[in-house]
Amino acid sequence: MSITPYGAQRTHGAGTLRSEHAGETVTVAGWVDTRRDHGGVAFLDLRDRTGILQVVADPEASDALEAAHRVRSEWVLRITGTVRERPEGMVNEKLPTGSIELAATSVEVLSAAETPPFPIEDEIDVSEELRLRHRYVDLRRNRLARNLRMRAQTLAVIRRVMERNGFMDVETPVLTRPTPEGARDFLVPSRLQPGESYALPQSPQLFKQLLMVAGIERYYQIARCFRDENLRADRQPEFTQLDLELSFGDEEDVYALMEEMFGEIFAEVLDVTLPESFPRITFEEAMRRFGSDKPDLRFAMELADLGGVFADTEVGVFKGVLSGGGAVVALALPSGGELTRREFDEWTEWAKRRGAKGLAWGVVEGGDDGPTLRSPLSKFMSAEEIAGVLSETGAEVGDAVFFGAGPVTFARTLMGALRVALAEERGLIPEGRWEFCWVVEPPMFDPADESDDPTAANAEGWVPNHHPFTAPAPEFDDDFEQRPGEATARAYDIVLNGVELASGSVRIHDAEVQRRVLRFLGISDEDAEEKFGFLLRGFRYGVPPHAGIAPGIDRVVMLLCGERSIREVIAFPKTQTGADPMTDAPAPYDEIALGELGLRLAPKPSRKN
Ligand code: AMO
Ligand code: AMP
Repeated sequence: MSITPYGAQRTHGAGTLRSEHAGETVTVAGWVDTRRDHGGVAFLDLRDRTGILQVVADPEASDALEAAHRVRSEWVLRITGTVRERPEGMVNEKLPTGSIELAATSVEVLSAAETPPFPIEDEIDVSEELRLRHRYVDLRRNRLARNLRMRAQTLAVIRRVMERNGFMDVETPVLTRPTPEGARDFLVPSRLQPGESYALPQSPQLFKQLLMVAGIERYYQIARCFRDENLRADRQPEFTQLDLELSFGDEEDVYALMEEMFGEIFAEVLDVTLPESFPRITFEEAMRRFGSDKPDLRFAMELADLGGVFADTEVGVFKGVLSGGGAVVALALPSGGELTRREFDEWTEWAKRRGAKGLAWGVVEGGDDGPTLRSPLSKFMSAEEIAGVLSETGAEVGDAVFFGAGPVTFARTLMGALRVALAEERGLIPEGRWEFCWVVEPPMFDPADESDDPTAANAEGWVPNHHPFTAPAPEFDDDFEQRPGEATARAYDIVLNGVELASGSVRIHDAEVQRRVLRFLGISDEDAEEKFGFLLRGFRYGVPPHAGIAPGIDRVVMLLCGERSIREVIAFPKTQTGADPMTDAPAPYDEIALGELGLRLAPKPSRKN
């Protein structure tokens, strides 16, 4: 036996009927999308997952007409009738079913419905809170239904590519020990072992490495990951990774596999042909040219380092910063001469909100002796300096130049953010472009910031840039501890249009190097034994060289769908505060359950204002 395409209660999908069905008697079922009642005759648009069909009820079938008078939007109906060509002039070119209609002989109400809390339309103006509270209604909207379909299609392609390349799907536990990926853990207290708790995995990282010890060689999993971190448009507390790992291979295998996989996803889901391979750019180069470790390569506007140009400058702010070892970083904005004084001031305020002391700017103007710079600072700049600014930034007459001076990484990051913000504001980012790149050779360690789990940093404030199982570049194998700020790692990210889609690395497979990295991170051998003993022990039993990566599925699908938030591609997402307005999760503790878990709540900390 096999299941019929549309279920036992109907013969056809509403959206599948065409002129060739004219004359057939069919039964369809679905929701009332819209209803136009002219008294003598009523029109219903019936919606199911295959599309929309116009149904006509007229006095010839009086029971059907009577039912059609009664029904309202979003009622669930089953309708039997005859397919017929629409009269001349009534064809709706916009609908795939627009050349026909269904003349109803019977209209059966399967379920009445309350008026929906918002209209089932693509563009609606309601709060996200309301949409999430009634997500089951929200998901009826074409746009969200399409997003979920594209997500499923993407997952199907991923599985096919992985299976074809000999990767095996293995499930790993969700109730487990903490995984050090840099965020805080969600804990699940244990009833059977009071006072102890599981952690939900931040990723299957440790298990996949142990699967390599186990000889699986090629593993993948569509894995749910959990991280208690501050949420943003591209972050959820639970999200999905394509997690994968391979043995006896290195960066090149991962690059080739991912290029093949993304090529196939884009071809199939969007009908877009990607290049055979993606450009590789080092972390250092990305920071220098784009002021970001996730460069958006859809537009130019590269940063220029003006340290050389202003080496002997009289411009006070630049002189001070350069003599202190900082950088002056500049950026040309095409046609930026159109900006008003007020707009320049607003961009200066924008920079100050990000911690900058200021933002200098100038406009390139034509002159008898060649282009000049009109700027509040130009009276302090020599002709050579101005010439240097123009040649280093490539600014032409009519363009604006922005200057940010400060500590090197700060100045680059600020100007990198300005580059993207200006391009967005001025509409300089071309639509329909897909610019992938690999960002490689990142630092092994970063100075910790407020987004990191405070317990992860060592006494000098270093945290792993990726995670502590990432191999150092060979030239730092012997002494990364001595030069943590210089050491680079054998890690790589996939960046698309300025969004980090995936991160991975070649792993340490030498127990001694692994211990040294952990020790450097302030994790004593005893602590390491206690936290990751199972991994370190596994490594004593024969571990192959291995490498892997994990693309974030939600972010991939977000970009495929042209959405700006991953919440639009997740069936039941959480809000920015980690709540689900539909289920009302998280919910208050149940006293009895707490008792069973051996837990008591501390009084709520009083809110400081
Ligand atoms: P990493 O922590 O960089 O690496 O995560 C890999 C990818 O997962 C996605 N991602 C997220 N998506 C939505 N919400 C979040 N909160 C979130 N956090 C991460 C991103 C990111 O690029 N175990 C390693 C991978 C490895 O080394 O193989 C890891 O998890 O797309
Ligand atoms: P000030 O000397 O603070 O009056 O600043 C003179 C000009 O330089 C103003 O336009 C400031 O916005 C700008 N400026 C000040 N500090 C910086 C900086 N760190 N980087 C770039 N421009 C700055």
